[in-house]
Amino acid sequence: MIPILDLKQEYLELKSEIDAAVERVLSSGGFVGGPEVAALESELAAYLKVPHVVTCGSGTDALFIALRAMGIGPGDEVITTPFTFIATLEAILHAGARPVLVDIDPQHYNLNPARLEAALTPRTRAILPVHLYGQVAPMQEILAFAQRHGLQVLEDAAQAIGARYCASGCQHLGEQAQQGSVPIGDRLSVGRPCNCPQPLAGTLGDAGAFSLYPTKNLGAYGDGGFIATQSESIAEESRLLAAHGSRVRYHHVRAAGYTSRLDALQAAILRVKLPYLETWNARRRQIAQMYHQGLRDRVQVPCEMPYALHIYHQYTVRHPERDRLAAYLKNQGIGSSVHYPVPAHLQPAYRDLAPEGALPAAEAAAREVLSLPMHPFLQEAQVEAVIQAVRSYA
Ligand SMILES: Cc1ncc(COP(=O)(O)O)c(C=O)c1O
Repeated sequence: MIPILDLKQEYLELKSEIDAAVERVLSSGGFVGGPEVAALESELAAYLKVPHVVTCGSGTDALFIALRAMGIGPGDEVITTPFTFIATLEAILHAGARPVLVDIDPQHYNLNPARLEAALTPRTRAILPVHLYGQVAPMQEILAFAQRHGLQVLEDAAQAIGARYCASGCQHLGEQAQQGSVPIGDRLSVGRPCNCPQPLAGTLGDAGAFSLYPTKNLGAYGDGGFIATQSESIAEESRLLAAHGSRVRYHHVRAAGYTSRLDALQAAILRVKLPYLETWNARRRQIAQMYHQGLRDRVQVPCEMPYALHIYHQYTVRHPERDRLAAYLKNQGIGSSVHYPVPAHLQPAYRDLAPEGALPAAEAAAREVLSLPMHPFLQEAQVEAVIQAVRSYA
């Protein structure tokens, strides 16, 4: 069996370092917050090149705490995409605001900036783009629109830690940038850590929300998340909200705060993993290139946009007989997964957001996308086996 993800293998690769970190925390007697969490926040801030990182209990918490810290609340509207994990919408509802959905661009599956204008109302306060599968949304257009209309931008970077945004094309993507969007291919620089000076996903808007869920490119061994921001006030407010609205213990300056904390064990484990992230992301891109070369004549492969350095949280292809292809692969011992089978507005709980047919690009994508095995420890023989299995699907 070739699973879509293999977290056990990752642990075995890092066992001695992880075990030492766990032992360090267990023998310290400090389990929530403390020096490990503070050190992780500094290291993440240095990696992302932002002044503030605030850790919290999950990516979902990071989203709604950031929204609240940005002053979003009841009566406000937040524009987002229907083609995402449901947490994006939950966060808007938890903040007391209303999600307003705009369709995706079928080329890259992210929010289509051309649709923003039609979604704007006097109550619109923010845009919440999602960097789906590890590719940054078209942020230049989104940020320009937000600026024109006085809106804030919170990035859902849950799937995109380490992804870059290169507005005018960066060195990695020089040729691609000049030629317009092309599927990932030979020109992509792969197999070595990325030193691209361009900004990272989650640092372009007012704030970025990240998930540290185990399956993410940087995953804890439990739940976790964080907010990255250039804004001191958003960081300060997020810190307050995540800790019961209190700066000084038993003194509460915000009502309805939360218990949303990262524990020291997770922080210590993440500190072991963070230095590997760039190499792991580069390996994902190398695997993506192999898939691309082996599959582009059989399925619709991901399209890497000229402004994006994709980090392939998922390698997601598209096929009109998606369910039959998935069943065929399963029979061949190959795991796959659908991200996501039902767009938000067609979920029973979210039917009031838009009628069926209103967001056709998202609806069509939900019927056809299929994610193939993708993690940095995939062997070439395994990648080749996946390619052969997809190719042999009649
Ligand atoms: C796009 C997106 N947003 C938000 C989340 C929520 O993150 P978490 O599971 O850490 O709460 C996820 C996690 O799966 C996600 O993929």
